Amino acid sequence: MADSLTIRRPDDWHLHFRDGETMRAVVPHTARQFARAIVMPNLSPPVTTTALAADYRDRILQAVPEGLDFIPLMTAYLTDDSDAGDLATGHADGVLTAAKLYPAGATTNSASGVTDVANIMGVLERMAEVGMPLCVHGEVVDHDIDIFDREAVFIDRVLEPLTRRLPELKVIFEHITTREAVSFVEDGGTNMAATITPQHLHINRNAILVGGIRPHMYCLPVAKREEHRLALRKAATSGSPRYFLGTDSAPHHRGDKESACGCAGIFNAPFALESYLQVFDEENALDRFEGFASLNGPRFYGLPANEERIVLERAPVEVPAQVAGGAEPIVPFHVGETLGWRMAR
Ligand code: DOR
Ligand code: ZN
Repeated sequence: MADSLTIRRPDDWHLHFRDGETMRAVVPHTARQFARAIVMPNLSPPVTTTALAADYRDRILQAVPEGLDFIPLMTAYLTDDSDAGDLATGHADGVLTAAKLYPAGATTNSASGVTDVANIMGVLERMAEVGMPLCVHGEVVDHDIDIFDREAVFIDRVLEPLTRRLPELKVIFEHITTREAVSFVEDGGTNMAATITPQHLHINRNAILVGGIRPHMYCLPVAKREEHRLALRKAATSGSPRYFLGTDSAPHHRGDKESACGCAGIFNAPFALESYLQVFDEENALDRFEGFASLNGPRFYGLPANEERIVLERAPVEVPAQVAGGAEPIVPFHVGETLGWRMAR
């Protein structure tokens, strides 16, 4: 049993940094572990243009602790009125790495999202032409669809028709949570990939509801039944290049989670690598961790893998009750647990 693992420095292909003092509190956790991260644009107001993304990138860079090399990869938030020309220019100039599709109303700060993919077909065609990837929050928002079915229904109603119509568009089906999503990705063309979060590999829906409501286990898409968690673990550790690391780390202050209407989002940034590694260890797949964490993402996005190496060691790491979050503390994923790996350097 290996007690240490040396891999290329990984990247996080999906997370939320927020803004202001919360951002300044959370960025160092990610910069400690990852070389790059795809930064979600769901600020309030959202990051909808190249100019807004360039400004946001500058604010993030100022929050990176001295001595750490970290590159934020920016995304633009798609709306019904997105400007294809601005997105293509932002992509060509290296400001925008991708664009993000939030179905309007699907999750935190998604009210200005896309009400019907038909409204942005011209933008998506242009993105396909210039090779700009599309990040997708894959849930329908229809009130008659059960929240546990929203991802599977999204595949049938939106994703399958979209990828059939535009097979040349690179699509990242983000934070997948179901076996239906795994089989859709498996059957997709070479322009289809998916990210998987640590929480969806660790918990099923019981974690949110058994023995009391546990708001810190609540995120969107919500964790599903055990059979889905097992399908995700199999996919992530399979060695397939279609899956890669994307934490969906989503900080919300303690009071906003522990509330009568608690926000969706799990803050996993402080121990993200440790959390994933525990899963790969349990699945006897440590030899496949580098592909998932450091190689598959850059290959799909058409970026070079990082040259630097990091070392992970088997050692107990205690997860604290809370971490600093600016105005108020934030409760991290795995609170109160002892994880079995740590990043040594
Ligand atoms: O749980 C989530 N939190 N899911 C999302 O899609 C958004 C995120 C957030 O921004 O808080
Ligand atoms: Zn997210």
